[in-house]
Amino acid sequence: MLRRTLLSAVGATAAMLALSGVAMAQETVKIGLILPMTGPFASTGRQIEAAAKLYMQQKGDTVAGKKIQLIVKDDTGTADVTKRLAQELIVNDKIAVMAGFGLTPLALAPAPLATQAKVPEVVMAAATSTITEASPFIVRTSFTLPQATVPMADWAAQNGLKKVATLVSDYGPGIDAEKAFTAAFTAKGGQVENLRVPLANPDFSPFLQKVADAKPDALFVFVPSGIGAQFMKQFVERGLDKSGIKLIGPGDVTDDDLLNNMGDVALGAITTQHYSADHDSAENKAFVEAFKKANNGMRPNFMAVGGYDGMHLIYEGLKKTNGEGGQALVDAMKGMSWTSPRGPVSIDPQTRDIVQNIYVRKVERKNGELYNVEFATIPNVKDPVKAAKSN
Ligand code: PHB
Repeated sequence: MLRRTLLSAVGATAAMLALSGVAMAQETVKIGLILPMTGPFASTGRQIEAAAKLYMQQKGDTVAGKKIQLIVKDDTGTADVTKRLAQELIVNDKIAVMAGFGLTPLALAPAPLATQAKVPEVVMAAATSTITEASPFIVRTSFTLPQATVPMADWAAQNGLKKVATLVSDYGPGIDAEKAFTAAFTAKGGQVENLRVPLANPDFSPFLQKVADAKPDALFVFVPSGIGAQFMKQFVERGLDKSGIKLIGPGDVTDDDLLNNMGDVALGAITTQHYSADHDSAENKAFVEAFKKANNGMRPNFMAVGGYDGMHLIYEGLKKTNGEGGQALVDAMKGMSWTSPRGPVSIDPQTRDIVQNIYVRKVERKNGELYNVEFATIPNVKDPVKAAKSN
């Protein structure tokens, strides 16, 4: 009798364990985070992965009663690899959301898969305006180059600059930056000369020589995050730091990940962007402190804040859908607003782009370190390219 009771108790426990195993498997929500963790853009991957992990460490790994599992994959910065990884994550791992995407071609490659499989694609880094139009499942927490650039053109015109040379990496975001600056600055009477440098292994020196000869009032530069230090080195080698030609641009060139090691050459550079590690708010102070503490003193840059806010958007979206992905999750993300370390933000329900403040900043030395110090704010800026289309 005792033996039978024992046996049935064991049986019941085994059945319960098996059942809870099934229940547990069903209750895991997987997020596929695809990033360049190696190659020339590894700094973007490192920043976003650190920020996503910090968010989970702070908020826990359970949302709407479901366990959140983050699966990080290295696409090496190659679009074919991004697409293959997205396919595998959707088919084999059954992810509810894919996120990351360090460069424009890497964000565009999986867009048809997002549409077919109805898997939301949260773009945390890439910043060409058109990206969100590639799939109705794309939502973006980074920025767009035109969004960051138009305020730069306005500042340049208001501050007496007449002649500006633009030098941009020759692909989506660079061309966006060049077009946005040229249109806005020439509309205010400025003169512009456009130069483009290849994205891969850029040699800036022939372009910088042209700029040195043309002697414009300012050089407007866009290079993607991770490349700014290489640019600055060649800027000094060509003597441009002593030429009186002012350095301006969207904030990618004075990226917080690299800025502190650039030296005095960066001092005085004026840039416009959505995030500075020096941003003066309680939310940002807490974010920077926690990020540094968790990452051996590494300073968060604008990629990190895109990753941190992307996780926030996913968590809050899942809370609203009770853990459901697909169309419901994208719909839940539309119109969401919150206070980010960068300031107040919201997701434009029409375009699925982020609406945010753009700050005008100047590189200064503060407590012995170089920072992009914000001195003016343009509030609630939308992507101007899509705003113009909808008018
Ligand atoms: C992009 O490829 O879209 C991109 C990458 C890095 C940036 C900005 C844009 O800093």
